Amino acid sequence: TGTDPTSRLLLGRTLRFEHHPFHDAPETAAQINTAGGVLIQSGRIAAVGDGAALRAAHPQAELIDYGQGVIMAGFVDAHVHFPQTAMIASWGKRLIDWLNTYTFPEEMRFADPAYANEIAARYLDLTAAHGTTTVASFCTSHPASAEALFAQAGARGQAVVAGKTAMDRNAPEDLRDTPQRAYDESKALIGKWHGRGRAVYAITPRFSPTSTPAQLEAMGALWAEHPTCLMQTHLSEQLDEIAWVRELYPSARDYLDTYETHGLLGARGLYGHAIHLEPRERARLREAGGALVHCPTSNTFIGSGLFDMAGLMAEGQRIGLATDTGGGSSFSMLRTMAAAYEIGQLRGTPLHAAQLMWLATCGSAEVLHLGGEIGNLAAGMAADLVVLDLASTPAIAQRAAQADEIWEEIFATIMMGDDRAVTDTWINGQRVNGNAV
Ligand code: GUN
Ligand code: ZN
Repeated sequence: TGTDPTSRLLLGRTLRFEHHPFHDAPETAAQINTAGGVLIQSGRIAAVGDGAALRAAHPQAELIDYGQGVIMAGFVDAHVHFPQTAMIASWGKRLIDWLNTYTFPEEMRFADPAYANEIAARYLDLTAAHGTTTVASFCTSHPASAEALFAQAGARGQAVVAGKTAMDRNAPEDLRDTPQRAYDESKALIGKWHGRGRAVYAITPRFSPTSTPAQLEAMGALWAEHPTCLMQTHLSEQLDEIAWVRELYPSARDYLDTYETHGLLGARGLYGHAIHLEPRERARLREAGGALVHCPTSNTFIGSGLFDMAGLMAEGQRIGLATDTGGGSSFSMLRTMAAAYEIGQLRGTPLHAAQLMWLATCGSAEVLHLGGEIGNLAAGMAADLVVLDLASTPAIAQRAAQADEIWEEIFATIMMGDDRAVTDTWINGQRVNGNAV
C-alpha cells in the first residue's frame, strides 16, 4: 500500500473565510483550524477539515506537513501590468510623465514576441514565489503580449485574466492601434483564449486619455457582443489625469461618464484606482455593480492619493486589492496589504488583518467573478494555495512569539513579510514554487 500520487494531504493551520469581514465582525470572519488539513485531488480541493481526521480517512494520500504554516487560498492580484515587470521601481515621476518616460518605452519592447514570452514567464515565476496564484493583467497593445501571458499561464495550469491594451491616441505611434484594429485584435483573442482552460479575457481600454471616443465606443460594442468577458481600465487615479479627461471629453459629466456613455460601465467592469470619485460616480458604480480595485503601493509610489476603503465598503461597493505592478512598487500581496493598512491609518480607518487577507483573496476573486473557483478554501474549489511561514525572519519571529492570538501573529507577517514568508505556492494542485520547508 504505497501513496496515491493523485491525492495529497497538506497539514497545518488552515484559514478559510466564512463571513465578510467588512460587513460582519472581522475577528470571527475566518475559521482557523490550528491542526487542519487540506486534501487535494485532481487539481482541486477535495476536502478541508481536521488534519488527523482527514489523515485517517485518506491513508493513501501523500502527506505534506507544514507544521505551524498557515495554509490558505493563494493571493489574487486584481490589477497588474505584467509588461511593466522589468521597469518596476522607476524613480521620480507622477502618472503622466511616468507613463511617457518609463512605461511606454518598455511596452514598446513587446513588439518582439520573444521578449513578451520571456517577461510573461519571468512575471509568473516571480508572482508565484510571492504567493500569488491568479492575476488580472493589462498587456501591451501588441496581441502577442496577451498571447504570451495566456500561453504561459495555461502551461502552468493557472487561472488568469488578461487582455490586449487598446490605445489610439496620446501614446507613441508604435503603441497605438485604431478603433477597428483594437476591436478586431481583441475579438480574435477572445475567440482563441476566453474560456480556454482557466483563461478569462478582459476587454482592456487602457484609460480614457489614450482612447478616442470612437475607440471607447468600439470596446463597448465588443463587450456587448461578449458579455461574459470582463472589462478592465483605470479610473480617477490622479488629479492631473482627471483634469486632462475633462479637457479631452468636454461634454462628459465626470470621468466615469466617459466609460458609461460608451457602454463600458457594468458589473463585469474593473476600475483600477478609483481614488478621487465624485458622488455621482460612486452612486453609478454601486448601481451598476462595477468593481473598484485598490492599488495602495502604486498610489503612494506614484503619489496619487488615499483610497477611501472604509467609506466605499460602507456604501456597498465591490472592492479588490492589487499591486498595479509596475506602478506599484512590489510584487508582494503581503506588502500590498501593509500599504493598504498604512493608507487606512492616514485616513483614520485602520483595517483589521482579516479584512486585509480577505481583500487579497476572496475580495479580489469576487471582483474577477471567480469567487466560486478561487480565493478561499472549500471543497470543489481550485487547489490554488499559499502556505505562509509566520516566523520567516528573525524580526518577524520575535514579534510573532509574543502575539496573544493568531490575527496578531498574522498581522506581523502582513506588515513585515515578503516572499520569504511564502513556504510554498500551489497552483492547480501542483507545488510550483516557494522556499523549502
Ligand atoms: N493609467 C493608465 N495607464 C496606467 C498604467 O500603466 N499604470 C498606472 N498606474 N496607471 C495608469
Ligand atoms: Zn494600472
